[in-house]
Amino acid sequence: MYKFIVEGPTQLKGEIVIDGSKNSALPILTASLLAEKEVVIKNVPKINDVFLTLEILNELGCKTIFSDNSVIIVPKDNMSYEIPQQLSSKLRSSVLFIGALLGKNGNAIFYDQPGGCEIGKRPIDLHLEAFKQLCVEINQDNHMLFCKTDRIIGNEIFLQIPSVGATENIMLASVKCRGTTIIKNAAKEPEIVDLARFLIKLGAKIKGVGTDTIIIEGVEKLNGSIEHKVIPDRIIAGTYLCAVASTGGEIVINNVIPSHLDSLLNILKNAGCSIIIKNDYLHIKKIKRLNAISKITTSFFPGFPTDLQPLICSVFSLANGVTVIKETIFENRFKHISELAKMGAKIINQGDLIIINGVERLYGTNVNAKDLRGGASLLIAAMSAYGQSIINNIDYIDRGYEEIENRYNKLGAKITRVSDN
Ligand code: UD1
Repeated sequence: MYKFIVEGPTQLKGEIVIDGSKNSALPILTASLLAEKEVVIKNVPKINDVFLTLEILNELGCKTIFSDNSVIIVPKDNMSYEIPQQLSSKLRSSVLFIGALLGKNGNAIFYDQPGGCEIGKRPIDLHLEAFKQLCVEINQDNHMLFCKTDRIIGNEIFLQIPSVGATENIMLASVKCRGTTIIKNAAKEPEIVDLARFLIKLGAKIKGVGTDTIIIEGVEKLNGSIEHKVIPDRIIAGTYLCAVASTGGEIVINNVIPSHLDSLLNILKNAGCSIIIKNDYLHIKKIKRLNAISKITTSFFPGFPTDLQPLICSVFSLANGVTVIKETIFENRFKHISELAKMGAKIINQGDLIIINGVERLYGTNVNAKDLRGGASLLIAAMSAYGQSIINNIDYIDRGYEEIENRYNKLGAKITRVSDN
């Protein structure tokens, strides 16, 4: 295990290029096993969740080569269909292998407790219910799920919650179905659109992505030989925006799709940041203390993303006034709050609300990352705080950010990675 030692406070200055999106890359890499020919995926971030996904693909029988942020995947006809438990128990998105394997050969065996950040119960009931509606038989024995179908039969599926993962799993299972699958109340996140663009290049027939009704007409073959470039990571771009909004300074963020960040940009502008938006870059400057925002509510896209909630907590810990944040997506995404409080933030959690009474200064201390985005929020707070901070358990941060300390250090931060031993 490693930890970060951070000397603060810092004002960030300079330019940064945003990596490919984790939440696009993971489903697209998983979907590549449906291909009949070699595929090349570009702009793939070098992060732990990607390495785990490639390990699963290898275990299932695909050949993968990863270099310079590009992955070549050579799929196989007769693949294994048992998703290895020791890998799936470390990765939430491993659940998408069920849909991809069912779509490919009609069989999947999965340990029913996928890993990932502990930010809520995160059940997979909607995924399994949808598979049943697509004519998949599911048997459960001792935490193992045995999923089997002779052929996926298209159906109309209404999702009670517009779940990102369930929408992706239904798409993966349905691309080669008999007939047509219609997903109603589908998730509209940009990562869903990116997955569909990839599948369409392979030969799938998908309409309506980015709206709440997705129509998938089954095809016999997915034999396009393709190259696909993953979209920029909106949550990483949002992380840098929050970092500057907290530490002060000014940066240019390149390779970003600003319309993916409308809700955050609106909040930061209203709080007092100066932001210039161009086609694929953002310029953000903070010169004076920000004003609190009375109410921020996490929501499905295009609403304010739950993944940015911990980061905005660091920003408004230092703002003038009281900010109230309502977390509506995950019932346990509050573990960063006690850690921010150790740094002097006046922040409490009541039910699904986070109430922040902004302070003028945070102070460096010893804190623990407890999940990916919560860990990233502590790093922002530590760069803004006076004195030295130690952030433990940074493996969580490495799951979603490539070389984060080097990126921040280029912008003027003083962060050192040290081994726990
Ligand atoms: C994805 C993202 C994650 C993000 C989340 C919400 C990836 C790899 N991860 O996670 O970063 O925070 O979307 O934007 O893309 N739910 C159920 N039953 C289900 C499925 C979901 O009740 O079968 C609930 C969840 O507990 C949660 C809500 O639906 O309360 C949304 O979850 P979902 O959109 O599925 O999130 P993930 O796909 O896991």
